[in-house]
Amino acid sequence: MRHILEIDDLSSSELGRVLDLAASSDPARVLTGKGMALIFEKPSARTRNSMEMAVVQLGGHPVYISANEIGLDTRESVEDVTNTMAGFHAAIGARVFRHSTVERMAAVNRVPIVNLLSDQSHPMQALADLLTMRREFGDLTDRTVAYVGDANNVARSLALGAGLAGMNFHISTPPGYGFNDADLDHVRLTGLTPKIFDRPEDAVAGADAVYTDAWTSMGQEEESEQRRRDFEAFTVDDRLMEFAQAEAIFLHCLPAHRGEEATDTVLDGPRSRIWVQAANRMHAARGLLSWLINEAQE
Ligand code: CP
Ligand code: NVA
Repeated sequence: MRHILEIDDLSSSELGRVLDLAASSDPARVLTGKGMALIFEKPSARTRNSMEMAVVQLGGHPVYISANEIGLDTRESVEDVTNTMAGFHAAIGARVFRHSTVERMAAVNRVPIVNLLSDQSHPMQALADLLTMRREFGDLTDRTVAYVGDANNVARSLALGAGLAGMNFHISTPPGYGFNDADLDHVRLTGLTPKIFDRPEDAVAGADAVYTDAWTSMGQEEESEQRRRDFEAFTVDDRLMEFAQAEAIFLHCLPAHRGEEATDTVLDGPRSRIWVQAANRMHAARGLLSWLINEAQE
């Protein structure tokens, strides 16, 4: 049984296949008569809607489930919920606070589990990011994505995805907010060694894509004032974008905290691809589910 808890649960060639399937506008309806359970412990705009519409486009029926409603690990254990849902659905997606929750679901091993964001990773976002860059640049080999901000779930999955796609990855974070040694070891397994820079200007220099995300992720709200101070010099603004390639694009997984990690002029400027990137969440989800349901389990 294959599960997608992180983007490197795909090999490089499987990733290429998923991105090819994502680009197909006439997918096989591999979920006809089947359901997908979508369990959310945290809010979502893009992930819920892109997953639901991807399931519909594959002929299936998505069921949104609030974690409060089913009482994950309070009303019923994660394992009992997973076994129950496996009786109704062809796959389960879950957005969770603790990555161990999706690992426990995968350990039940009844139906494929898709991580819809955990504290550790956001593989469905990274798939859409790679799809967006591939549509922009064609072949991604030796292209450089520069990430400025918090080395969070989005950054980890992006770095792993970049490695699988043969890209270079630059990152600049405030002291104490970078990747730890285990993160770096993990990324190196893809063949990529992330380049770490103290100054955002140096990370962005020569990049093809500049990426940022919120300074405070869901679940870290009590740190937001401290983080606002610590990340003050890490706003992506027009001045910083000038260090990138002349044709460089700007990406953000969204939601954006306008004026914090990126200015309005960058988010809404000519280099920004944030809306096509958001829309690509649906195409990437459709590609991933096509592969996971129809090809991966054979
Ligand atoms: N980028 C992303 O995952 O957005 P949502 O939190 O709105 O799903
Ligand atoms: N890093 C952010 C991503 C939101 C899509 C968070 O985890 O809240």
